[in-house]
Amino acid sequence: MTTHSAWYYNDMQQVGTDFEDVAQVEAYDRNQTSSSAEKSQKLVAQLGISAGQTVIDLGCGTGTFAIQAAIAGAHVYAIDVSLAMLTFAQQKAQLVNVESSIEFHHGGFLTYEHTAAPVDVIVTQSALHHLSDFWKMVAFLRMANMLKPGGIFYLWDTVFSFHPTEYQTRIGDWIQRVAKPPGEGWTAQDFATHVREEYTTFGWILERMLTDAGFTIKTANYVTPEYAEYICRRG
Ligand SMILES: C[S@@+](CC[C@H](N)C(=O)[O-])C[C@H]1O[C@@H](n2cnc3c(N)ncnc32)[C@H](O)[C@@H]1O
Repeated sequence: MTTHSAWYYNDMQQVGTDFEDVAQVEAYDRNQTSSSAEKSQKLVAQLGISAGQTVIDLGCGTGTFAIQAAIAGAHVYAIDVSLAMLTFAQQKAQLVNVESSIEFHHGGFLTYEHTAAPVDVIVTQSALHHLSDFWKMVAFLRMANMLKPGGIFYLWDTVFSFHPTEYQTRIGDWIQRVAKPPGEGWTAQDFATHVREEYTTFGWILERMLTDAGFTIKTANYVTPEYAEYICRRG
């Protein structure tokens, strides 16, 4: 086990929404429509994930993407800091008989040690915003090291692409647009917690971080002013 310096951030703690809370985990698949089985299946095809490939899913949550990658024939390393999420994901994988193709690991962007060979694809969705910018950069450097040269890195997250001077109206408009009533999805309170306690970054900062980590950005898709996806290649 690696011993880190006293200044190293402990990313095994929950920041903002508590994904160790079993009620959160059980409600998650209903709340998070961006990573449904159907969308995950499309992403697997878009990234060209196929039999024999190796894939890391960092911040795998309830395992929807990891399961679809395993169904496509990949060997998947599904990593999360939440044991409640990992337990739930493992049960979902068992239901569709792909648990032998998925290695579940309790770890984070800053703590997971990938001891196997570098992988073909790394995916991380809606998880990196749990780290502040400095630690995002460290996470990018660590993930670049886990990827084969030429391997694909896919990032989806909350990313701000509006002009910073507009932050007050943009955040207000966003929450109004996407928040759901309690019991039907992420609420206005959930989004407020996200903005106040988690770390969404501006796209122009992320682009520089990705290139400084050794990735070539193939696609930067600013889906809305608050969400983006990046498809990158390692060096
Ligand atoms: C919003 S969920 C996203 C889950 C899944 N990737 C998806 O798209 O549905 C965020 C996940 O990231 C995990 N997480 C939080 N901090 C993390 C960290 N430092 N390293 C890895 N995962 C982390 C949480 O436990 C949670 O399962």
